[in-house]
Amino acid sequence: MEKKFKRTLITTALPYANGPVHIGHLAGVYVPADIYARYKRLKGEDVIMIGGSDEHGVPITLRARKEGITPQEVVDRYHAIIKDSMEELGISFDIYSRTTSSIHHDTASEFFRRLYDKGEFVEKTSMQPYDETAGEFLADRYVVGTCPHCGSDRAYGDQCEACGTSLNATDLINPRSALTDSPVTMRETSHWFLPLDKWEDKLRHWILDGHKEWKTNVYGQCKSWIDLGLQPRAVSRDLKWGVPVPVEGAEGKVLYVWFDAPIGYISNTKELLPDTWEKYWKDPETRIINFIGKDNIVFHCIVFPAMLMAYGDGFQLPDNVPANEFLNLEGDKISTSRNWAVWLHEYLRDFPGKQDVLRYVLTANAPETKDNDFTWSDFQARNNNELVAVLGNFVNRAVVLTHKYFNGVVPAPGELQGVDNDAFAAIRQSSASLEDNLENFHFREALKDAMEIARIGNRYLQETEPWKVAKTDMERVRTILYVALQICGNIVVAFEPFLPFMAAKLRGMLSLDKVEWDELGHEDIVPFGTEIGQPELLFEKIDDEAVNAQLQRLADIKEQNRINNFQATPQAPDVDFDTFMKADLRVGTVLECEKVPKADKLLRFLIDDGLGKRTIVSGIAKYYKPEELVGKQVVFIANLPPRKLRGITSQGMILSAENADGSLSVITASSPVVPGAQVK
Ligand code: MF3
Ligand code: ZN
Repeated sequence: MEKKFKRTLITTALPYANGPVHIGHLAGVYVPADIYARYKRLKGEDVIMIGGSDEHGVPITLRARKEGITPQEVVDRYHAIIKDSMEELGISFDIYSRTTSSIHHDTASEFFRRLYDKGEFVEKTSMQPYDETAGEFLADRYVVGTCPHCGSDRAYGDQCEACGTSLNATDLINPRSALTDSPVTMRETSHWFLPLDKWEDKLRHWILDGHKEWKTNVYGQCKSWIDLGLQPRAVSRDLKWGVPVPVEGAEGKVLYVWFDAPIGYISNTKELLPDTWEKYWKDPETRIINFIGKDNIVFHCIVFPAMLMAYGDGFQLPDNVPANEFLNLEGDKISTSRNWAVWLHEYLRDFPGKQDVLRYVLTANAPETKDNDFTWSDFQARNNNELVAVLGNFVNRAVVLTHKYFNGVVPAPGELQGVDNDAFAAIRQSSASLEDNLENFHFREALKDAMEIARIGNRYLQETEPWKVAKTDMERVRTILYVALQICGNIVVAFEPFLPFMAAKLRGMLSLDKVEWDELGHEDIVPFGTEIGQPELLFEKIDDEAVNAQLQRLADIKEQNRINNFQATPQAPDVDFDTFMKADLRVGTVLECEKVPKADKLLRFLIDDGLGKRTIVSGIAKYYKPEELVGKQVVFIANLPPRKLRGITSQGMILSAENADGSLSVITASSPVVPGAQVK
């Protein structure tokens, strides 16, 4: 921080346009980046914030196949959803573009070509999975087969989702193509590799010696990568979707998505500032900050910097990469494919006008140093107990009292007393801490500092009790409300980076046309004599109903996933017919059925088995009311040895089928039969 920078270039990881963005993306990347950008703008600094969709890569082609549409249609759809929803949340990109733009294709293509011409790549051939029917090489994800570890026959070439093991396509038993289901063969293909080993010393020196101030999670990951020794990395793929490799004879090959995507930061800067983009990338007085999630660290700290060094021409490396950990949802990892997420566009639909509430909760729970959990009950509690009860309440009291006693005109203060000076001193202290935390990417702490200003305001009103003083000393009330309104003014400034919608509304209420960061801590933000607006509620309570609706939605998704994941157990080994016939299966009519006391799973049946009555105990009490089963004709095994359950002798077993969620469904005869009829 000692170095003085002239301008800041903020980049935000380009989200894959194979789905909408969710709260994990927001908490990890876009909300912190936006806070930082807004703060810098409020300080009057030269800053640009670059974003865009990452529109290449295998997941997008997979999604297109699944839906029977083109990859372009997939990215058109999600790019629009992502762009609109982030804008609605107030993420203040200076540009939000996309990697299918022609300027990006040209920029990425030229980048590759320059490295190629400089001899920065090594070309290597290797054997890769190939689909003879489709006439295409297959990405690992496109190869399916039997997992060598757990035997699941639905393993992918990169991972078995049944047992979680990560795999290579060559590990699979009976590999088949996910495209055509035909057997996979191996074919020779050649690719270009960026020799990261060549840059190892420079990277080591730049990060490990030069950036000890980076977050420990980032520094640590870089150190372990570098200590392990860097290897050449393939930068091309045999794929139809992407930026074509600009080399003769490379038909059917595209740039690897992780090669072209980070170049998107450059393309998008060019698109924003066609004439002046270079100073943001090549001037050492520009400070470049990459906001990303932890899964992107190696690409931003090792691979992309190596690409930039290989390119040369003055490109600067990032000054900091404040990567975040992950946000979980209700205790489970967020997953696009399992639909386990709170999607931004859905949140905006379900909670209209509550952008700041989400921004607040995601910042308060930002996974800055460890994974964190988003829960709807915490969302509700933070809204009701912090935004409504602390921030909203203070502002409302200050504004309402000003209307009550002074017709909405900011009163001229008398001489400040101890409490007044103490309040301002406390605000200056919180402001200093706020600024320090923002500079160091400690956004959670920064938000607490901002919130402290509202708490100071509440305590101030509690101590000074203007509603009581008004009975005896209106002069004093003038000063108290003047001070309270200045605290409101400080709130506008302090919260603008975090809660821009609230800040704008409050700014309007206080009749301020604009504020600057440097006013923070000042005692005269809202001049006396100003006519302020009517009090408007800044936040409203969120009731249980709204939260329960979200929890119900998640419960439904869990249930749906359980059903989708249900995989029939493999068929048991063959038995000969005689062995099967030894089991005496019969139909019996249920005469009585009741719960077994103190056993929440068990039901006791009395069955007419054609010969007499027999008692059978069955573990299905969770799924049926006993009276529902009386009269039903069930299937039971008649020749099992009797067994004692909770003191009751059970003479046989009633057959049920087990569902995906473990629930049981009793097998019954589809038309009436005589009790004791054999099942064959
Ligand atoms: N699309 C990638 C992801 O979601 C991030 C790309 S960041 C960039 O993980 F640097 F490549 F742009
Ligand atoms: Zn497995």
